[in-house]
Amino acid sequence: MIISMIAAIDQAGGIGVENRLPWRLSADLQRFKQLTWGHHLVAGRKTFASIGRPLPGRIMLVISRYPQNLPPGCLPADSLEAALDICAVHGESEVFIIGGGEVFRQALPLARRIYLTSVHTFAHCDTFFPPITPGEWWLLEEHFIPADEKNEYPSTFRILERAEVNLEHIV
Ligand SMILES: NC(=O)c1ccc[n+]([C@@H]2O[C@H](COP(=O)([O-])OP(=O)(O)OC[C@H]3O[C@@H](n4cnc5c(N)ncnc54)[C@H](OP(=O)(O)O)[C@@H]3O)[C@@H](O)[C@H]2O)c1
Repeated sequence: MIISMIAAIDQAGGIGVENRLPWRLSADLQRFKQLTWGHHLVAGRKTFASIGRPLPGRIMLVISRYPQNLPPGCLPADSLEAALDICAVHGESEVFIIGGGEVFRQALPLARRIYLTSVHTFAHCDTFFPPITPGEWWLLEEHFIPADEKNEYPSTFRILERAEVNLEHIV
């Protein structure tokens, strides 16, 4: 099972403010839907609260230290590892860690792929993506998205893959 992370970050590594996304980026939301459709998603309890509902066409695992009643379409897990175990038991091929900051920090060492949207602004965030060490990741794809009436800021879509995984493919 591939463990992937998907995130949009500003030029300071910021991902959120006051438990919401600090931008309106329609192209990024479409990319998120296209990439994650049919897969398991793993979200922190605060990110799930911010989204406010299960996402159609996907199974959402919500991590919390305290079991809670979740709406249909969501499953509780009391740790990141427990959430990943459930995905593996379900036969998932690629699980998407969707945030937020606390969950991204724990998941980064486990992740093989990062679907990263770099948003070309400083959004004065209070929550951040963990630092990415450049030499540890290879850039597989890069695609610039200009700002327009549906995309508040220009952004760049990137796919990063852990370098040692890539070397394994070459050998
Ligand atoms: N730009 C992006 O791509 C993006 C993506 C997602 C989210 N966000 C933003 O990120 C912010 C939320 O991030 P956050 O860091 O505040 O919170 P978060 O990571 O979404 O959730 C944190 C909560 O998850 C639970 N949790 C985390 N690790 C756990 C573990 N090992 N075991 C059990 N439970 C665990 C805890 O819930 P309990 O307190 O219930 O125990 C913890 O309080 C929001 O602003 C959101 O909009 C941005």
